[in-house]
This record gives sequence, structure tokens and C-alpha cells, in this order.
Amino acid sequence: MPLTLQRADLVRSANFIAGRWSATESTLDVTDPATGELITRVPDSGAAEAGAALEAAHRAFATWKKVPAKQRAAIIKRWNDLVMAHQDDLGKLISREQGKPLAEGKGEVAYAASYIEWFGEEATRLNGEVIPAHVSGRKVFALKEPIGVVAAITPWNFPAAMIARKIAPALAAGCTVVCKPAEDTPLTSLALVHLANEAGVPPGVLNIVTASRERTPEVVDVWLDDSRVRKITFTGSTLVGKHLARRSADTLKKLSLELGGNAPFIVFDDADLDAAVDGVMAAKFRNGGQTCVSPNRLFVHRKVQEAFAQKLCARVEALKVGPASDPASQIGPMINARAVEKIERHVQDAVSRGAKLLSGGERLTALGPNYYAPTVLMGVDPSMACSCEETFGPVASMAVFDDEATVVTQANDTPFGLAAYFYSQDVRRIWRVAEALETGIVGINEGALASEAAPFGGVKESGYGREGSTHGLDDYTHVKYVCQGQLD
Ligand code: SIN
Repeated sequence: MPLTLQRADLVRSANFIAGRWSATESTLDVTDPATGELITRVPDSGAAEAGAALEAAHRAFATWKKVPAKQRAAIIKRWNDLVMAHQDDLGKLISREQGKPLAEGKGEVAYAASYIEWFGEEATRLNGEVIPAHVSGRKVFALKEPIGVVAAITPWNFPAAMIARKIAPALAAGCTVVCKPAEDTPLTSLALVHLANEAGVPPGVLNIVTASRERTPEVVDVWLDDSRVRKITFTGSTLVGKHLARRSADTLKKLSLELGGNAPFIVFDDADLDAAVDGVMAAKFRNGGQTCVSPNRLFVHRKVQEAFAQKLCARVEALKVGPASDPASQIGPMINARAVEKIERHVQDAVSRGAKLLSGGERLTALGPNYYAPTVLMGVDPSMACSCEETFGPVASMAVFDDEATVVTQANDTPFGLAAYFYSQDVRRIWRVAEALETGIVGINEGALASEAAPFGGVKESGYGREGSTHGLDDYTHVKYVCQGQLD
């Protein structure tokens, strides 16, 4: 099916380096996950393109960091306006290359724009400090300065939002950027960069190169090895995050790593069960479960397990699975064949070890190659793959528990610590459990947590650094202590 946009020029198939679109000889196919059909081809870049992008970003940094904050803010604000003016087109682009339903695609555009708008506003509030001097005749200041060239490596699950919450604060702080979007979803990123250029982001300030999975290391190695890249911001797997941390050590780059999660979702026996089911539907089935903060382990108190499972299955079975082109679809295809294989492996492993399949549990091949039915499993235990690895799909895996102390220990018994959720009406328990959970994000009686004004990020092997909020802006700065003497 042809991709028809109001502005056909939003579909770009070239790199953007130093303010110019440039193609490469070798290319990478971008396909529709719903059908496997080719959408278009983009550059399969290597070291040469990565080096050119870095050179451009390095040169542009000298001037961009000096552009007054108010002027930077105005450019970022124009970018936000353009993104929202093209919400429909960008939503279609996201849905086509990533597979999420159109309403979610458009919703993601608004979500991405919220970061652009917010960081544009914050650009003018990047205040330093005046500190009382420790001796007379001196003035002591702490200045926040842009860290330098930032390399942003972005994932496929939110192709607009993840790039927005990395690039907008970088530009707001006065940094310049080299970006490598996910190989599965480069088109949304290229369209966003096109609009940033139109909004007046000067040449060289924002550069983007696309590359296949195979050639990505070639691109990223150039940035890792070069001391002019002062920060890496990455969303993706813990395995890759650790590799980036190791390889950044030689040049001691600053890192923001938003890595894998294995979120617990606890339903206590005093919970409002309908609200808890709403929470699972929002958090677990958003983007077909392909979300780092998606609940991976549901723990339900024995007393309410049957009632909760019944309510959940009713909602899950009512979900409409289908392509983004069908406005009724609520769950689209998974991103690729590897993703479906993993989901299938997790479900088969759980069932073979004694979990009970309450709903779903199969591929939906009649719809296309990458569809999997929304699934509910009961009687899951910690030995199963779905408890130890992120399933990243529409599978709600339920375990039963009897007491608070044990469930908190189980919830924390993972190397990961991104998000956790729990439902309870007991205010004492609420604060006890919120403080005991070892994660960077906690949702209490709430499943939809994302906000541009809140700090998003993990602890333990889910990474470090924060995105969104003033913390997410500070991560693109360093603090310079300035002391002036002889003022007596
Ligand atoms: C993610 O999956 O990494 C981000 C999800 C979100 O922004 O809520």
C-alpha cells in the first residue's frame, strides 16, 4: 500500500550532515512490519558518514553554544509547532514503519512534541548558582555549560518520542548532535530532523546517519573512539548499554543509558481491581507491550487472583488486533520476526513448566507475519524465561503471592530496576512499598506514567541518567566552578 502523506517530502531517504541531505551507495530496506513490504530505502552508512557527521557537529558547537538561550528556545519552539502541524503525517509514518495503531502513532507525535516544547521553554531557565564565598574579596559561581557533541542512539519502539527527549534537551543546553536511529524505524527520525532544519536549527547542529544492524558498530565506534564526542545517550538493551559504557571509558564520556526493564506490577488484596485492570491495560498493552516500562511480571494476591484474572481476560480478549491501516486496531504487529520468536519462546517455556494459558498464546498468521495474540498466563514462577527476561510483547504473565514482604523481595529480585507498579488502598503500605521497590520509577494506582516534566530512568542494570524534567536537561551540561578574587 502506498504511503500517502500531505507532505510527501517528509519521507526522506538520505543522511542529513552539515545541513545537507546526502545519499550513500549502499542502502538499507525499510519495511512495513505488518506485511513485510518495502516502504523505501535509506543509507546504510559506515565510518565515513559517521566521521563527517561528527566533524560537522564539532564545528557547529563553537557557534551554537554561544547562541543566546532565548534564540535557541525560539528555534526549538518552532520545531515543536512544525511537529504538531504535521501530527497526522508523522503519525502515519510512525505507524507504517513501526506498526503501532494510527491513534497511538498520532499520540506518540504529541508525546514527542511535549518534550520538544518543554525543553524549548527550559532552555531559558538553565540557571547556574551564585554561592556565598568562603573568604572575603571573592565571588563564587557555578555555571552550567553545554557538554559538547552528543551522540544519540535511539530505539525503534518510540521512533519519535525517544529522539525528541534526547535531542530537544541537547539543543536547549547548547550541545550539537550526531544521531543514529534504529535500523527498523529511521523514517520518523529523518522526518523530525527535516522539520528541525525547517524550524531554523543551523547546519551542523543536528546530524543524522542511518545504518543497518550489521554496520551500526562501524558508525558508533567512530563516535566512541573520538574524544570530541562528550556524551552518549542511548535507549536499548542492557547488553549494548554495557558495551557503550566500557567503550566510552577511554575518553570518559558522560552517559545516559535507558536500558532493559523487568517491571513488576503488584495487585494487593486491598486494591481497586477495576483500576488495577485499567492499569495493566494501559501499561502492558500500550505499543503491543513493546515498551521498556511495560509490566513484565504481574504479582496478584491469592485472595483476589481469580477475580482479577477474570476481569483481565475479559478486557484482553476484547482487544482488536490488526494493521495500523484499520482505525479499529488496538494492537499492531510486532516489530519483526525475531520479536515474535522471543514471545513465542517465552509462552511455550512458561506453559511447558506448568503455567496455565488463560487467553491467547498463538501467532495470528492470518493477519500477517508478525502478529501475536494478546495473552494471559497464570501460575508463572521465577524460573520461567518470561520472569527473568523482558518479553517485550502483549503477554501478561501472572504469579500469585501471599504477603507483602515476600512480594517486595520477589519484585526486587532482578538485576533490572526501571519501573514498578502497585495497586493498594492502604496509605501506610503505599509508602512502605514505594520506598522498598528498587526502581527508578514507581506507579502507585496508576499505569500511565510518561510525562515530559518527570524524570524517566532506571537504577541497577536498567542504567543511569534521566530523561525529561530538569534532570534530563542537566544531563547535557557540566558544571563549571568560577572563582573571582581580588574584589576587596
Ligand atoms: C521506552 O520504552 O523506553 C519509553 C517508554 C515511555 O516513554 O513511556
